[in-house]
Amino acid sequence: MVTLPGLIDSHVHFRVPGQEYKEDWMTGSAAALAGGVTAVVDMPSNVPPIFTTNDLQKKIDLITPTTNIQFRLPVGVSDATVQAALDAQALACGFKVFLQPHSTGMFVKDDATLHTLYQGAEKVIMIHDDTGVERILKFVEQYQKPTYFCHVSTAKELSALATAKAQGLPVYAEVTLHHLWLDQTNQQLGKRAKVNPPLRTAADRAALWQGIHDGVVDTIATDHAPHTLAEKDSAEDAAGFPSIEFFLPLLLTGVAQGKLTIEDITRCCVTNPTKLFGFGPTGQVTADETAIWTVTAADIKSKCAWSPYVGMALQGKVVRTELT
Ligand code: DOR
Ligand code: ZN
Ligand code: ZN
Repeated sequence: MVTLPGLIDSHVHFRVPGQEYKEDWMTGSAAALAGGVTAVVDMPSNVPPIFTTNDLQKKIDLITPTTNIQFRLPVGVSDATVQAALDAQALACGFKVFLQPHSTGMFVKDDATLHTLYQGAEKVIMIHDDTGVERILKFVEQYQKPTYFCHVSTAKELSALATAKAQGLPVYAEVTLHHLWLDQTNQQLGKRAKVNPPLRTAADRAALWQGIHDGVVDTIATDHAPHTLAEKDSAEDAAGFPSIEFFLPLLLTGVAQGKLTIEDITRCCVTNPTKLFGFGPTGQVTADETAIWTVTAADIKSKCAWSPYVGMALQGKVVRTELT
């Protein structure tokens, strides 16, 4: 048996408010606990999006009675609402910036918005940029504000961040479970493979594992993004995977295969997220690191009721998750 502090998932979409038919905090929390996760950072790309102090407070009031896991919430930024986001930062763990158009309207197009944000930010700035890290690195150089790159997925991005870190810039790199475990060769997923940023090459995937080993990667997260199968299988733009119920088993499988260490798990899923997002003690999780099992539909806790990992053989099973 192995005992670790409860894991922190630095990037989830639990879909409240507005898309409770995909997930809510009862099903999301059950999935988290099944995966050894006792704390999450939940994204503001809700319906309606979370742009203001009032939006954040309403979201906190909705979530609190329906969950027993810890949560932190970044506030979303758009060109029209950047000042409201800055005014809301006391209640937020950071800012979330989408640099590509997003179905919720949470989107930053103008450099002027980024200048305003970087001037006023006193919390970590979380970036989603499907085009890479270069645009934002210029702002980090100019303003020296902590900047967290969500779902770094290519060898090129990771190498640019390694260089930025070597120069002393306050940048942090997140990688997701799906960019570690899946790549463009996973054709069997068909339309269900759609995710932003997309699945990459086997060489990119290998570079992400190496980045964990080298310490360039700061956090491992799920980007748990539930959509119904009807949505995934239709022509709509339903990008993303659920996965939080398999968090620790997927990591322990990596340990069994020599891809990372238990210390890497603690660093990327407890210590670093605690510092970045201001979590307290996270309880503990006990797992059987020798248990070999195959994921079936019966193991899924997410409301969306599908998983890209069904059929995958894993080594490591969560035995008990305890909250503080
Ligand atoms: O694939 C994705 N799904 N990428 C994102 O950035 C958003 C997420 C979602 O909310 O579904
Ligand atoms: Zn994203
Ligand atoms: Zn996301």
